[in-house]
Amino acid sequence: MAQTAALFLILFGCCSGLRMLQINQRPIIGILAQESDDPDLQYGKSYIAAPYVKYLESAGCRVVPIRLNLTRDEYERIFYSINGILFPGGAVDLETSSFAKAAKIFYDLALKAFDAGDYFPIWGTCLGLQLLVTLTAEKDLLVNTDTENIALPLNLTTAAASSKMFQNFPPDLYKAMSVEPLSANFHHFSVAVQTFLENEKLNKFYSILSTDTDRKGVQFVSTMEGIRYPVYGVQWHPETSRFQWKPDMAFPHSPNAVQLSFLLADFFVNEARKNFHHFPSPEEEKAALIYNYNPQYVPASSYIQVYFF
Ligand SMILES: *[C@@H]1O[C@H](CO)[C@@H](O)[C@H](O)[C@H]1NC(C)=O
Ligand SMILES: *[C@@H]1O[C@H](CO)[C@@H](O)[C@H](O)[C@H]1NC(C)=O
Repeated sequence: MAQTAALFLILFGCCSGLRMLQINQRPIIGILAQESDDPDLQYGKSYIAAPYVKYLESAGCRVVPIRLNLTRDEYERIFYSINGILFPGGAVDLETSSFAKAAKIFYDLALKAFDAGDYFPIWGTCLGLQLLVTLTAEKDLLVNTDTENIALPLNLTTAAASSKMFQNFPPDLYKAMSVEPLSANFHHFSVAVQTFLENEKLNKFYSILSTDTDRKGVQFVSTMEGIRYPVYGVQWHPETSRFQWKPDMAFPHSPNAVQLSFLLADFFVNEARKNFHHFPSPEEEKAALIYNYNPQYVPASSYIQVYFF
């Protein structure tokens, strides 16, 4: 018995070829901060809404805030220290903001890393999805849509059932997603389905998993995933179902909405468990974690709690 255990340890300890069988049980995911001119978010030069932090932490990872205006070298150092990145929602320019510029550095590094066998997942929520589309298409293709404060069912495409994101979902939840309004929409712009289908760069890169229709009849991309690369985007806000509570806002809090929110967080944290980047030292890791910052209670904002930097 002891011998078998020892042999097992030797095999797994020595053979780097077996690394694919291992998972990183202590993943750390970065969340990119964003600048804002919203008066409710003026307690710092940039911010991260706490619901995104809780969303990721709920599935068993730790979070590192990534601040704006760092040098390229500093971003690269962070990239090789973390296991994935989330681009949150918000309201800044998709090409000229400090947020967009930092995101491009991580996006380019992640694609290059993947091609070299280093799996680094990216998740974009709302503005984050729009940013991913802009990075991939290399231009801003958004159209104005009437999609502020509305919960919608997801119009799942035929690709959804076998997608990385949804393939392991319980059948009951999968069915509910297309009939119950489980997705919270808070956006004024979208990627129209037609624009997406006409753009070769987007077609080659992403598969559309769900679409939705705005109040005026424009069909837009609501969920997408990279075909080759581990890049995922939702135009809606899964984190709101569990962590945002304004009664006048269309945050779905039904058991199915809560389960959907958890399963997507769980999916993405599992993606990050496939990455083995780490901080150069435990001290550097400690100094980078979100625990070094206290979220501020901002009752006027729908986020409720926000980290300011
Ligand atoms: C980033 O740099 C720009 C240009 O120097 C500056 O206007 C902005 O306030 C900085 N943002 C943050 C969050 O420090
Ligand atoms: C769902 O998507 C299909 C195309 O994939 C479209 O024909 C249909 O109109 C959409 N339904 C809604 C309610 O948006």
